[in-house]
Amino acid sequence: MPSTAIEKDLVGKVALVTGGSRGIGRACCIALACEDCAIAVNYVRSEKDAEDVVAALRGMGVKARSFQADISKEDQTNVMIEQIMKEFGRVDVLVNNAGITQDKSFRKMTRDLWHKVLVVNLDGAFNVTSGVLDQMCERGWGRIINMTSIVAQMGNFGQSNYAVAKGGLIGFTKALAREVAAKGVTVNAVAPGFIETDMTASVPAETLELVKKLTPMGRLGKPEEVARAVRFLSAPQASFITGQVININGGMYM
Ligand SMILES: NC(=O)c1ccc[n+]([C@@H]2O[C@H](COP(=O)([O-])OP(=O)(O)OC[C@H]3O[C@@H](n4cnc5c(N)ncnc54)[C@H](OP(=O)(O)O)[C@@H]3O)[C@@H](O)[C@H]2O)c1
Repeated sequence: MPSTAIEKDLVGKVALVTGGSRGIGRACCIALACEDCAIAVNYVRSEKDAEDVVAALRGMGVKARSFQADISKEDQTNVMIEQIMKEFGRVDVLVNNAGITQDKSFRKMTRDLWHKVLVVNLDGAFNVTSGVLDQMCERGWGRIINMTSIVAQMGNFGQSNYAVAKGGLIGFTKALAREVAAKGVTVNAVAPGFIETDMTASVPAETLELVKKLTPMGRLGKPEEVARAVRFLSAPQASFITGQVININGGMYM
């Protein structure tokens, strides 16, 4: 009798999702677990949320553990990666998802707000990627997925710091993709539009109404709709896709 079992794509592989405790990162953890990937869930403050994600992942039958670290801090990130290597032995899929906003129109933008957004969104990706890239290259297989934003492509009022950070991630994606392509490591970015998470919960209702009006689909996106692209890019069959930005925005930017 031929087997009817559906082969999972990421059996034996390990993913690290930064900011996996909530929102899009949480959905990425669940989506990757659907492919039987073991998951390291990074968070900075929300221990309980991270533990809830870990429990959900274990309930799906995959190995999972949470790792607290502020990825904007090099020393904390290095300790986290050491712990992950001890516990899981490898990282095959890195989702550079953790991010923050600190909005102000540029005339009111302080150096501190500018810097805060850059160090988490951009330096954070540097810190984590440099910690796991060598072992991916040595094994000849890896997937790096950077969470950028529609704001990098369109701009947005009050988000010059965030636009710079997310635009930087697109440049990083393309440059790194060229450097490691021959090593079997792909590097891509996902650019969500406005997605229903805690991040957009603080956006004023009238702004969200305007966003819906400007979105051909007439609604915000869901974290699962972003996570599906991350799952797709992580698959072994996505091996010829690198340096790309996948837009998930209901048609708001084409
Ligand atoms: N929501 C949107 O509309 C949207 C659109 C485009 C792009 N994005 C991007 O998608 C990513 C996820 O956004 P989201 O909406 O899911 O955000 P969210 O609900 O606010 O969750 C942010 C996540 O990042 C983590 N995080 C924040 N700072 C961190 C740090 N210094 N070190 C480690 N982890 C940190 C948080 O951990 P704790 O739980 O511990 O705080 C949390 O897990 C971000 O990069 C965001 O810029 C979001």
